[in-house]
Amino acid sequence: MEQSIARITAIGSYVPDKKMTNFDLEKLVETNDEWIVQRTGIRERRISEPDQYTSDLCVSAAQDLMRRYDKSLVDVDLILVATTTPDFIFPSVAAILQDKLGISRSVGVIDLSAACSGFVYALHVAQGMVASGLHRKVLVFGADTMSKITDYTDRSTCILFGDGAGVVLVETDPEESSFLAYHQGTEGIGGAHVYLKGIAENMKGTDLSNTGTLVQNGREVFRWAVRNVPEGVKAILAKGPFTTNDVDWFIPHSANLRIIEPICERTGIPLERTLYSLVNFGNTSAATIPLALDLGIREGKLRDGERILIYGFGAGLTHAGLLLNWNLDPEVSISSV
Ligand code: UT7
Repeated sequence: MEQSIARITAIGSYVPDKKMTNFDLEKLVETNDEWIVQRTGIRERRISEPDQYTSDLCVSAAQDLMRRYDKSLVDVDLILVATTTPDFIFPSVAAILQDKLGISRSVGVIDLSAACSGFVYALHVAQGMVASGLHRKVLVFGADTMSKITDYTDRSTCILFGDGAGVVLVETDPEESSFLAYHQGTEGIGGAHVYLKGIAENMKGTDLSNTGTLVQNGREVFRWAVRNVPEGVKAILAKGPFTTNDVDWFIPHSANLRIIEPICERTGIPLERTLYSLVNFGNTSAATIPLALDLGIREGKLRDGERILIYGFGAGLTHAGLLLNWNLDPEVSISSV
């Protein structure tokens, strides 16, 4: 099998129409807009309809990609979906998408569970698959419908989460790679700090009597992220070696602006060079990074030829980052969202 070069050629994204503002949340729990903005930076989030699931968001994101970059997806040979809110435990969202997007029946389909780090993990896997010559055209989704697993009586979590989907296409390229450096890390011991109940009865002695909604010790996750992400960012830069001046845009997972600020301080990356999607979309888990990438394009900030450092972190506890050389195919139609 011949080795190959992997390039990200196109992007698409989608968020549901329905908005939930901080003022809407004031009617549900004891909170207020000022507290939420000061403590998180979030102003509103999008919420899926009751019958709108993660696969539906992915379909709309893929349609956006096809329209803007005039891409056919029929010959995609691998679908990777990073999500923690799949429509079903099985079949996978990726398998559902083969049908909904009319992709060839010879495609491989994988859902990847790495929570808020999921999109970076999936992109890393796609790079490996294409660079090794095992696959030629891979669709990589980061998509979540967090509202379906959010407890709207818990003010410490319900103010954070929203729904959305982003997708990129990774293809073989004759000469140019999008992938410059990668770093990852896992601390399984912190698993009980943020989880969703599955079929097991016990999670390190934690009470699992609650059903179906996300449980989080926000303060612990906060501390862990601020401690670990800056080290991860430095580890990626050391691989070049690159300096912070080589990074045009930094896109950390959009969990909380108060997590992003100290990460910037500790890494020496100016906050003005970060892109994040949390202000209007909240924490959309695996979708925050592709949504921020696409917002950057739509707002005219992110341009071809720039270097982007993306860094995911969250449940697991997991973290993973990639330094990317951003050079998509030309857009043929202006995006509508
Ligand atoms: O993406 C997955 C990974 N998850 C994350 O990265 C989340 C990381 N954590 C966070 O973003 C923050 O920890 C939160 C936003 C969840 C909480 O912010 P915090 O500044 O860490 O607040 P805290 O948990 O230390 O709570 C401070 C106070 C408490 O009151 P007392 O005990 O001091 O009287 C809370 O009960 O704020 C209270 N509080 C609220 N007050 C008004 C918690 N939530 C709210 C709320 N409105 N929504």
